[in-house]
Amino acid sequence: PAISRHDYQPYPYRLPRVALQFDLDAECTRVHARFEVERDGGGLPPLVLNGQELSLVSVSIDGTQLDAGKYRLDDETLTLFPEAARFIVEIASECRPAQNSALMGLYVSGESLFTQCEAEGFRRITWFPDRPDVMSRYTVTLRGDKTAYPLLLSNGNLVAGSELENGRHEAVWEDPHPKPCYLFALVAGSFDCLERRIRTGAGRNALLQIYSDKGSRNKTEWALDCLHRSVQWDEQRFGLQLDLDRFMVVAARDFNMGAMENKGLNIFNSSYVLAEPDTATDASYHGIESVIGHEYFHNWTGNRVTCRDWFQLSLKEGLTVFRDQQFSADMMAHGLSEDAARSARAVKRIDDVTALRVAQFPEDAGPMAHPIRPESYQEIANFYTATVYEKGAEVIRMQHTLLGEEDFQAGIREYFRRHDGQAVTCDDFVDAMDSVYRARHPGKSLDVFRRWYSQAGTPRVHVTLQHDADQGLCSITLRQHCPPVGIEKLQSPPLEKPPLHIPFALGLLDAQGQALALRHEGQEHETVVLDLCAESQTWTFPDIAERPVASLLRDFSAPVIVEYDRDDAELALLARHDTDPFARWEAGQELASRQLLAMSQSGSAKQEDAILIETWRALLHDPALSDAYRARVLTLPATKALLEKTDPMDPLAVAQAREDLRARLGQALADSWLAIYQACAAAEPREYSPDAVSSGRRALKNLALAYLAAGRHPQAESLAQAQYESARNMTDRMGALSALVGQGDTPAATRALRHFYEQWQHDPLVVDRWFALQATACATRTDTVRALMLHPAFTLRNPNRARSLIFQFCMNNMLGVHRPEGYEFWAEQVLALDALNPEIAARLARAFDSWARYAPSNRDAVHSALQRIQQHEPLSRNVAEIVSKALNI
Ligand code: ARG
Ligand code: ZN
Repeated sequence: PAISRHDYQPYPYRLPRVALQFDLDAECTRVHARFEVERDGGGLPPLVLNGQELSLVSVSIDGTQLDAGKYRLDDETLTLFPEAARFIVEIASECRPAQNSALMGLYVSGESLFTQCEAEGFRRITWFPDRPDVMSRYTVTLRGDKTAYPLLLSNGNLVAGSELENGRHEAVWEDPHPKPCYLFALVAGSFDCLERRIRTGAGRNALLQIYSDKGSRNKTEWALDCLHRSVQWDEQRFGLQLDLDRFMVVAARDFNMGAMENKGLNIFNSSYVLAEPDTATDASYHGIESVIGHEYFHNWTGNRVTCRDWFQLSLKEGLTVFRDQQFSADMMAHGLSEDAARSARAVKRIDDVTALRVAQFPEDAGPMAHPIRPESYQEIANFYTATVYEKGAEVIRMQHTLLGEEDFQAGIREYFRRHDGQAVTCDDFVDAMDSVYRARHPGKSLDVFRRWYSQAGTPRVHVTLQHDADQGLCSITLRQHCPPVGIEKLQSPPLEKPPLHIPFALGLLDAQGQALALRHEGQEHETVVLDLCAESQTWTFPDIAERPVASLLRDFSAPVIVEYDRDDAELALLARHDTDPFARWEAGQELASRQLLAMSQSGSAKQEDAILIETWRALLHDPALSDAYRARVLTLPATKALLEKTDPMDPLAVAQAREDLRARLGQALADSWLAIYQACAAAEPREYSPDAVSSGRRALKNLALAYLAAGRHPQAESLAQAQYESARNMTDRMGALSALVGQGDTPAATRALRHFYEQWQHDPLVVDRWFALQATACATRTDTVRALMLHPAFTLRNPNRARSLIFQFCMNNMLGVHRPEGYEFWAEQVLALDALNPEIAARLARAFDSWARYAPSNRDAVHSALQRIQQHEPLSRNVAEIVSKALNI
């Protein structure tokens, strides 16, 4: 049942205009669709329309209703047989929003109606060519009860409104921009609205609006602010103007993903809209900024130029993630001194790379491994992945590195010059970039670079350094290889994986940690970017008197794994002195990883851990480092990232080693943690702000508290309790609560958890935090989770709630879940969710993607759980694809 990228065929008809009329009702909504159909070429192939979970009322062509014999209707398609090259189709159908627990198509959330159409949800609204290369201009008429649905919103401009009989009313919306149906949206309900009138750089007056549940307007100020800054940033950095008079964002409590970029009417998971200091953490504020930016930036990279087919998803997602990452970095650095800005950008980079390593690297090494432009899929909803998004963004970022900001922007201009208003491919994007690259660098091209779009797996770059003291020459040899992953492993003969174009940023330090000048292509630099395009290449640098220390893959210039033999002393030197803040962080992480892996294998610490502790002490007290950066440097590598470095994987041992080392560092550096904690706490201003400096200070303070708690410091509990009681923002309240809960089932922890729930039970996003904290507590086991599922506030139907408890436990509580009863629980929840929401179930089904690399006892237990899922009937296509791939490895 797989669909292949190479099977693409253009749709045989054009649908320039679509008129939709909705008689909205939660139980049964009547949809009347009318569209013009035109054919340019010869012949009159059948007109195949997609539809799902719809009841057909009538279908007509040019005003004549068709008898059942004149069309073909099956489970998923309605086929008409045209007799002319131009005609008008009208279809009346019904759907059932209140029964729609999959949250694709038209559904009910709270008391309101929402839509989600990407990727293939429009077919659950009406029969239509549900594919992104069919672009139409939409007129939408919404009719509904005035009391239940006082607001009736859709894409574009409100052109008419009127009162109807029986307490109903009507609104007519017209979207002047042609769009694919996945960008269609409607919202009906009763909402608060916060708005701002702005004037764009091009002189357009536009209205920005944030809609949210009644009573939450005061939680939308930050989102509106982020939206305004997104508009300004896209003008300033990318020269892209808002093309609408009205840009709306609506918050929904029930939402499968983060948010959706519907033209002019973005619909958001409320967790990426609502924030006030008392209920949202610094991380939520930053998450809102990046998602508001992301969806807004889609207006150009996604909507004005869209995807020809879903294999091209990374065309819009990789590019838009790259843009939102740049936006966040620019916002973090805004208003800071040059050094502080550099550090703030490095913090954002560290967080992005950490996310990549925790989610994408494992994906790229497991059964779901795929290139950023997949070659085939069974269910497209399964390919909204870390690879398409985050690795996709890295592939764009490498093009930015190769071209430089100025030429990259020239490439973007060329892309829009060629393709504005079209549905295109990843190749089209690279062609535009390549045209600029070739013009500026005669003899060079992106020909080899393009392979990033078709190759799965994380490449490894093996580094050797040779120093010739007599001649003062240092040569660096880079050798790349990319082992087969996923189904590639089953291929015979083994798949050829040709070399990629890898921009590899390098610096050299002397033995004192001073940066050396590197002569490269006729100039001197502190950092050089080597273009590795072949399997192996060597570069030689002159005037290097002594054997230098290599600072590798600076700023993470490519999504690869570096292999380089060096001793702990070199890492310690880099961790203290590297001038590249990313590589400096990386060195500290590598030092800690070695210790952790040694501990997980022997069950105890390496003897010589003094070097780690001394390095960390130095970092703790380095006055040149920002608090935010120090918080990252002093955080131990994530268990999932560590596990990727092991074979076979022993999740329990690695997670336990991490707990043990946290405790040891907590104890060994207790005085420093306490001093840091007190200094940060004393500096907390009365007025909350999520800016880089204050959020960094809070991150460091709460990290110090966590270490004190892990090290069982005699003051830890009282400090945490005092912080919990006096906290004036959610970041500090959660920091304190998590330190208390980290102590186990103590009376203080129990009391605080009870108090927290009582105080915040009315706020769903805060209740999610309450579940998540318990789901990930290191003492939590399956029975704790089962008990929490009986709590009246728990429900599987709300994706945020399911994620806060079930996903957090299955995916982020290693110590809790990696046991036979944990895997059984997981299989049970995958099946329970699958009956409600297949897209969400399929995400949970990926919790143990790496199972084939586990040690035997875990492996067997996951294997039988997977089989249990696979044998269940019915099983959604979503979960079936995941499980069959997992079992085929
Ligand atoms: N385009 C949205 C984004 O940028 C993702 C929507 C995917 N939705 C879904 N139900 N699969 O993040
Ligand atoms: Zn997106």
